[in-house]
Parts: sequence; C-alpha cells; structure tokens
Amino acid sequence: PAMGDLQGVHVLVTAGGTREPIDPVRFIGNRSSGRQGVALATAAAERGAKVVLLAANIDESVLAAAERPGVRTVRVSTTAELEQAAHAASAGAEVILMAAAVADYRVAEVSDRKIRKEDAPGEAPSIVLTENPDILVSLVKAQRPGQVIVGFAAETVEDEEELLERGRRKLARKGVDLLAVNAVGWREGFESGENTLHVLDSDGELVRVASGTKREAADALLDAVVEELEGGPHP
Ligand code: PMT
Repeated sequence: PAMGDLQGVHVLVTAGGTREPIDPVRFIGNRSSGRQGVALATAAAERGAKVVLLAANIDESVLAAAERPGVRTVRVSTTAELEQAAHAASAGAEVILMAAAVADYRVAEVSDRKIRKEDAPGEAPSIVLTENPDILVSLVKAQRPGQVIVGFAAETVEDEEELLERGRRKLARKGVDLLAVNAVGWREGFESGENTLHVLDSDGELVRVASGTKREAADALLDAVVEELEGGPHP
C-alpha cells in the first residue's frame, strides 16, 4: 500500500453486525465481529484518510484498534440506527465501504415486556419478521458524482466458481462500483483473523483477490479503491 494515497480523502466504513430486538432482553443478531471493517478503517486512516467508522455491536477489544487520529467512531446497534447514521455520514464521504453484516429482517412487533414462558404454557412462541430496508441500495441511489461505493457479499458456497457467480448476481442487484465477495461459513469469514476478498468491478470483472490477515485483505481492497478514485467520476 502506498503511504498517503488516501491523504485527506473522507471514508465512511460500516462494520460489525446489526441486532434486532425481540423484547427488552433478547435480540436476533449475527456473528460479525467487526474485525474486517475495523481493519479497513485502520488501514484507510494510516493511508491518510479521514474515517467515520459506524460500529454495530463491536467488542471494545476489537474496536480499540481503530482508536487513532483520523478515525471517528460512532456506535450503533439496530439496522434502523445504522441506516440513519450511514445516510447522515454519506453526504461528506468520497468512499463508502459497507462491511457491516446487516440484518435483512427485523421483528415485526417488538414486545415492551420480557416474553415469559408462563404466558403461553406448553407453546413455543413464533416470531414474525418484516423486511429491513437495504441500506447499500439506498446509498447507491443517493450516490454523488465521484463517490466510490464498495459493497460486500457474504456467501456460503461450494467453490470459487459459485462464489463469483453469486457475487456477480449480487453486484447486479446492488449497483455498486466494487463488490468484495467473501466465502463465509461456520469457520470462515465471520470472526476469524484471516479473510479472502474476491473484488469485482462494476462490470463483474475480477480485479483483485485480496487474501491474508483481515488487515492485508483491507489494504489490497483499498488499492482497488484508489484505482477507482483515479478512474474518474462516477455517474
Ligand atoms: O466482522 P467480521 O467477523 O470480521 O466478518 C467480516 C464479514 C464476513 C462480516 C464481512 O467481510 C462481510 O462480508 N460483510 C458483509 C456481510 C453481509 O451482510 O453481506 P450480505 O451479502 O448479506 O449483504 C450484501 C451487502 O449489502 C453488504 O455490503 C451489506 O452491508 C449490505 N446490506 C445488506 C442488507 C441490508 N438490509 N442492507 C445492506 O446495506
């Protein structure tokens, strides 16, 4: 990575996993640790960027790595909070890196009181879900000229061919400038210290395979972002 190649560039990073409350003591969540997003925020800041990091439910021990000049961290929890914070921060961002694992659904009716077993003895309760807005799609709709928007795709797949095929389909749905596709599973992608990002451009061309520690993967993805920034304005 070239030192200072993101000097003064405003970068918005979302990281971690959103949580959707069921009642005051329970939630539906996912296993994102925030490591990949924190690595992106840290790497971008070291390359000179001014970073806003929207951190969804990230452990303080993981978040500590992003505590440095050049990174402003805002903590959020639900998808609705992340959506609001992302739109507030996106206006001033030249680069958006959407590494957060966002819940596709939320609980339709959140209970104000703890749901108790005694309330329905012998019956397993059902939770009714409702669709969340797609934050990335709405950011792309509001995209400004010159702004580079990078989406992620987390896929459980058999092989690289299926990974790229699923990635290209997601690319078409999201309309981003770059899509970082990673295989996820019980042991890979989420939580682990390493990652492999297959980076697709807006035409679906594989422009990079960024592999290694999440920090190394972050730097390789940022190399692709710098190329996009140099490539001129986007519609
Ligand atoms: O946090 P770690 O433990 O380090 O793990 C990293 C990671 C595997 C979580 C990360 O690299 C990753 O893949 N993040 C994206 C996870 C995800 O939600 O992927 P998706 O394929 O479901 O979503 C596609 C894209 O749309 C993502 O950029 C996501 O942020 C965005 N999205 C999804 C749903 C939604 N309602 N709104 C969104 O903006």
